Amino acid sequence: MSEFRRIGGRIGAEITGVDPNALPLDEVNDALLEHKALVFRGAGLDDEGQLRFAERFGELTRAHPTVPSVEGRPDILPVNGEEGIRSNVWHTDVTFVRTPPKLSTLRALVVPPYGGNTLIANSAAAYRDLPDPLREFADRLWAVHTNDYDYVLPRTNTDKAVEYRQTFTSRRYQTAHPVVRVHPESGERGLFIGGFAQKIVGLSNSESRDILRILQSYVTRPENILRVQWTPGDLVLFDNRITQHYAPDDYGDQPRTLHRVTVAGDAPAGVTGETSYIIEGDDATHYTPAQAA
Ligand code: SIN
Repeated sequence: MSEFRRIGGRIGAEITGVDPNALPLDEVNDALLEHKALVFRGAGLDDEGQLRFAERFGELTRAHPTVPSVEGRPDILPVNGEEGIRSNVWHTDVTFVRTPPKLSTLRALVVPPYGGNTLIANSAAAYRDLPDPLREFADRLWAVHTNDYDYVLPRTNTDKAVEYRQTFTSRRYQTAHPVVRVHPESGERGLFIGGFAQKIVGLSNSESRDILRILQSYVTRPENILRVQWTPGDLVLFDNRITQHYAPDDYGDQPRTLHRVTVAGDAPAGVTGETSYIIEGDDATHYTPAQAA
């Protein structure tokens, strides 16, 4: 039995000094379903090792639908906070497409001497925390997720930052997802919203903002959050179907480089079994394997 040590009351477990690729897959997957986010301290993987690890869980996505990959590595997204472009918005990876990745892996290459942590929130615990009337209300809602909003608002207006935003929105996506997603493996319900969720289907913009703000406040309760303090060589695996994450922009201009590899997922299903649908854009098959509608 693998020795994952629980590190948070509601999310997170870690294991130290083992090669993640040497661990039995079913044990890692069971631990992931239970803890939502796993930290492999001193995993010591290189790019190949990270790709191999992620591939054990299924087919990979390309690096991103619009943002370029690491040179020569089409499945690896560089996360380097250059030009003040930081992911300091709570989000679930790539929810603006119909089939967002099911799992994300992040590996630390360069870590600033302070700050630069990653926060990961348990959105199933958030759902369970909702008062009954709010939970029943949320069960019926659908939200429109899009990449075309001020996600990763650059701290600077440098040419590079402006160019990044243009690249990020070079293909526009809008997808309707259930606000409450039923996890395809565990059956758990979780709030499936985050920064790309910009509107509630059938409500006005201002009504949507208020509802999303209330629901999101449950996701980001401190009780539901794991804070990962990185050391180079660490690898984190989190379940993108039932978590959100946030990268605090608190390390100034110091270098920070992570590599992200994600595993392809299916179309989210809500409590009635209905699945997500595209409102605008393509089915992103240049990014993630095609799935039946
Ligand atoms: C991401 O949003 O995938 C990057 C998280 C981070 O920079 O820690």
